[in-house]
Amino acid sequence: MKILLIGSGAREHALARALALDPASSAVTVAPGNPGTARLEKTENTPVDADDPAAVAALAQRIEADLVVVGPEAPLVAGVADAVRAAGIPVFGPDGSAARLEGSKAFAKEIMAAAAVPTAMAHVCTTLAEVEAALDAFGAPYVVKDDGLAAGKGVVVTEDRQAALAHAKGCLDHAEVVIEEYLDGPEISLFCLADGERVVPLAAAQDFKRLRDGDAGPNTGGMGAYSPLDWAPDGLVDDVVERVALPTVRELARRGTPFVGLLYCGLALTSRGLRVVEFNARFGDPETQVVLARLQSSLATALHAAATGDLADLPPLRWSDDAAVTVVISANGYPELPRKGDAITGIEDAESLEGVHVLHAGTSIDDAGALVSAGGRVLSVTATGADIEAARIAAYAGIEKIDLPGSHHRTVIAAGR
Ligand code: AMP
Ligand code: GLY
Repeated sequence: MKILLIGSGAREHALARALALDPASSAVTVAPGNPGTARLEKTENTPVDADDPAAVAALAQRIEADLVVVGPEAPLVAGVADAVRAAGIPVFGPDGSAARLEGSKAFAKEIMAAAAVPTAMAHVCTTLAEVEAALDAFGAPYVVKDDGLAAGKGVVVTEDRQAALAHAKGCLDHAEVVIEEYLDGPEISLFCLADGERVVPLAAAQDFKRLRDGDAGPNTGGMGAYSPLDWAPDGLVDDVVERVALPTVRELARRGTPFVGLLYCGLALTSRGLRVVEFNARFGDPETQVVLARLQSSLATALHAAATGDLADLPPLRWSDDAAVTVVISANGYPELPRKGDAITGIEDAESLEGVHVLHAGTSIDDAGALVSAGGRVLSVTATGADIEAARIAAYAGIEKIDLPGSHHRTVIAAGR
């Protein structure tokens, strides 16, 4: 199977790595890819404007791809999957109409209400007066969400009413704003493969969204993750499939916009039960790094089955009993103003450690041929081990070997869960 993978982050490096190791795939083209994907076996990078549906469809035809896998949300919302599907090529990723589940928080709320999926109560506001009324109705802590795509950074959770109002004002300049009830309790990420009708859950993971240890600092795209969740209640995955993923997929099918791709269920286990915090229409980053580190079945076969409506025939997925932990190294200034161009060294030393691999995100090769930082989240240092503790120790041993001036990472990912 020839595969075209769209994207250039650590999530795509993790996907490309799993596909490159998979005997079911013969060649992997990553567009545009990053310096890490360039080094994988069976894999090559090709430039493309990932948000241009016609360009991606043309590339898929040119390389005679058997399967296209779309990593990030922006191409999905832009209609890249629609264009590839229209060209007759199986694509793992929803059409733009179904990707609105991630692209518009107001649309996601509408689908959840129609499908009776448990989620936070919310008001969609178009004026500041509505925002003030909703903040008063729910009380602190306040949860204020930009309606549109914001790479995980459009949400403010705060006790400070002025800060909540200020964020809402900023959002109202360009979109609607969603004010929500605050959800307490631990968060989990459960990814489900969806073929338009059926879903197959992957292993659950937990992400660390805030920039700093102790869940302080601003929300980010995610600073680390681990899997499995040894503390999660029995039956959690089945519960999410039955009460969240399946009703959502059925509601979208009923509306004539079937969801084919990765339904990312972001959940809070609150004192009042399971609640959806958010849906995404693609693999999560950095959770993918730990989920795929544990997958033993063929990823290419599973994604192809979802893309072609054949999940019913997919054999049960097999998972390693090992645990996986990933820790993100971010650039100085992330998330506000990440600094670029700093030299990165020590990756080979990190990867010489047992069970450690390093995934690239915001990296590039400079004119002198050196690896330098080129984005907010720069690397995901990922490790497997017999249990979470062993994987965590290995991941931090890897971190110790890597040098990126001014960089930041959280120091207690997966500890004291
Ligand atoms: P979202 O983009 O909707 O996933 O929100 C990003 C992050 O903000 C989530 O992962 C949570 O950590 C936090 N968050 C979002 N909604 C709520 C909520 N209703 N209550 C508490 N925290 C929330
Ligand atoms: N790690 C959160 C996300 O991918 O949205």
